[in-house]
Amino acid sequence: MARGLRSMEVIILPDAEAVGKEAARRIAELIRRKPNCVLGLATGSTPIPCYRELIRMHKEEGLDFSHVTTFNLDEYYPIDPRHPQSYRYFMDENLFNHINIDKSRTFVPYGLAPDPYEHAEWYEEQIKKAGGIDLQILGIGHNGHIAFNEPGSSLASRTRVKTLTRETIEANARFFDRPEDVPRYAITMGIGTILEAREIILLATGEGKADAVAKAIEGPVTTMCPASALQLHPRVTFILDEAAASKLQRKDYYKYVHEMAEALKKQILEARMRA
Ligand code: PGA
Repeated sequence: MARGLRSMEVIILPDAEAVGKEAARRIAELIRRKPNCVLGLATGSTPIPCYRELIRMHKEEGLDFSHVTTFNLDEYYPIDPRHPQSYRYFMDENLFNHINIDKSRTFVPYGLAPDPYEHAEWYEEQIKKAGGIDLQILGIGHNGHIAFNEPGSSLASRTRVKTLTRETIEANARFFDRPEDVPRYAITMGIGTILEAREIILLATGEGKADAVAKAIEGPVTTMCPASALQLHPRVTFILDEAAASKLQRKDYYKYVHEMAEALKKQILEARMRA
């Protein structure tokens, strides 16, 4: 757990690569401290540099995933996990196939579950059985969504079946051979589920995310910006690049706070070494 973190922290770094590396550094720190930790993982373009860095740490530094359990946020429904558009496929390709994780401990909602409602309940139970999520990684949508919790989602929602918007279905059509193959639903962790993670790191990069990030951090807590619910969580870190942070009113203050906190930690450490 990030030392001293008792509320929301905002870290602003130069670019997407630096954001990925900082997230990976924090994940690796947790794995080294708690080898059997439970990670919550996300798909999308934002976490890719983070996963790339974790793979490098595994290959070059021996970062050991053999006792780690993971839960992904969401999956389309219905979808064959072998379909290149499935989130299971994404996770295998971008992370799991390149590290020494036990695949039976990598949970992604099952896109071919015969009863997705029952499956959603089963998924919640598995999270509980694993002891809860130690660290949840999140991306953010342009509209402030987290996982498939679109604006209007209940802040208390649990893992459940969601009907995708017509816009999302139309946008996804290009990735599927036949229109009837485009998933109409998703199974997603709820906002309430996400808020139960012991620690949360939200990653955002690029100017396209700047409005959503500003609303999430500085706007009111509202279902119309699901990521704003993170303001209610006691251990949440937003790791942003300059572009994604560009619309924050108190950007310079967050940077100053971070520098001052680092300086204080260094001072404490030095005092301890002298003692
Ligand atoms: P992205 O997606 O990382 O591909 O931008 C994030 C999200 O929609 O949650």
